[in-house]
Amino acid sequence: MKVLVTGGTGFIGSHTIVELYAAGMDVVNVDNLSNSEAFINDRVNAITGKHSTFINADITNEDNLRNIFRNHSIDAVIHFAAFKSVNESVEKPLEYYKNNIGATITLLKIMDEFKVTQLVFSSSCTVYGQPDELPVTEDSPIKEAATPYGYTKQVCEQIIMDFAHANAGFYSVILRYFNPVGAHNSGTIGELPRGVPNNLGPYITQTAAGIREVLKIFGNDYDTPDGTCVRDFIHVCDLAKAHVAALQKLIKEKPTQSVLVYNVGTGKGNTVLEVVKAFEKATGISVNYTITGRREGDIEKIWANAAKAEKELHWKAERSLEEAMLHAWLWEKNYRNIL
Ligand code: UD1
Repeated sequence: MKVLVTGGTGFIGSHTIVELYAAGMDVVNVDNLSNSEAFINDRVNAITGKHSTFINADITNEDNLRNIFRNHSIDAVIHFAAFKSVNESVEKPLEYYKNNIGATITLLKIMDEFKVTQLVFSSSCTVYGQPDELPVTEDSPIKEAATPYGYTKQVCEQIIMDFAHANAGFYSVILRYFNPVGAHNSGTIGELPRGVPNNLGPYITQTAAGIREVLKIFGNDYDTPDGTCVRDFIHVCDLAKAHVAALQKLIKEKPTQSVLVYNVGTGKGNTVLEVVKAFEKATGISVNYTITGRREGDIEKIWANAAKAEKELHWKAERSLEEAMLHAWLWEKNYRNIL
């Protein structure tokens, strides 16, 4: 089984490649390194003891993709490659639409040309906006997207559904991720944001490492247990395993529906402050933080009902928030050479 992973050098992609090898699959990774570093591939190879094929290419270009499919006999695709910064998407909407939607369209076109019929797609709980009822199930309404980033996820989901409708024999699993945190327990791969992190996990570890002076917690006046926002934080290795489970569903079962959608979360909400406390407990390091005003566009609270994935993919999150924080810290220390 040879899996083409797009964006396999990124945070979730790299951890997924580790799990694909652990499940006995082979990998071709295409990534243009627009938001990731080539050395991550060496680290993945060191963890797995395998040598994945790495191709540095932009998949919005049809010929690039065609060459890959021509040169490798690809059985299935996991499509991660996308821009993912919510803020940046507001400033650069055309780049987000072109890259995220363009890549998905091109990928489907070339998969069709080469009769590759199995796709796992990387979506987000952002499609639910601020849900009316919690936890969210896969049937919860899709809300109007607050940002171009969120809209690209909604549109790509729809494109995949329309494509599947028009092409009998094509199957896809759409995974709606909640908030990935943590790192591989070796501490050799992890989240590697460029510049100032937007996301909570790397902001905490960089503050603990002394790279950022203070973690700003955006608002403590929400209607939540301690006033800070609630998210469903999932260890990235658990999230990675969900992709293997999704592929196995496509390979082994030939699902009754051509497109299956799953929430990939723990089923539990934690506040931002609880994440900071979990980090402190797991590492023994206190995080310098301050409470500031709300961040524009943040939703108050969201967490998953993950029962459908458990029932149908036979997958559930197993690692704790503290483990995730410990592993994220191991990675930050390793990357910064902190003893
Ligand atoms: C956002 C997107 C999500 C996307 C993810 C990855 C939305 C609603 N969510 O998640 O789809 O997949 O980014 O880029 O569009 N926080 C702080 N201080 C910080 C950083 C974050 O207090 O320095 C708080 C935020 O206010 C939020 C929580 O931590 O309450 C999580 O924030 P973040 O890691 O940025 O993820 P989301 O905004 O939930």
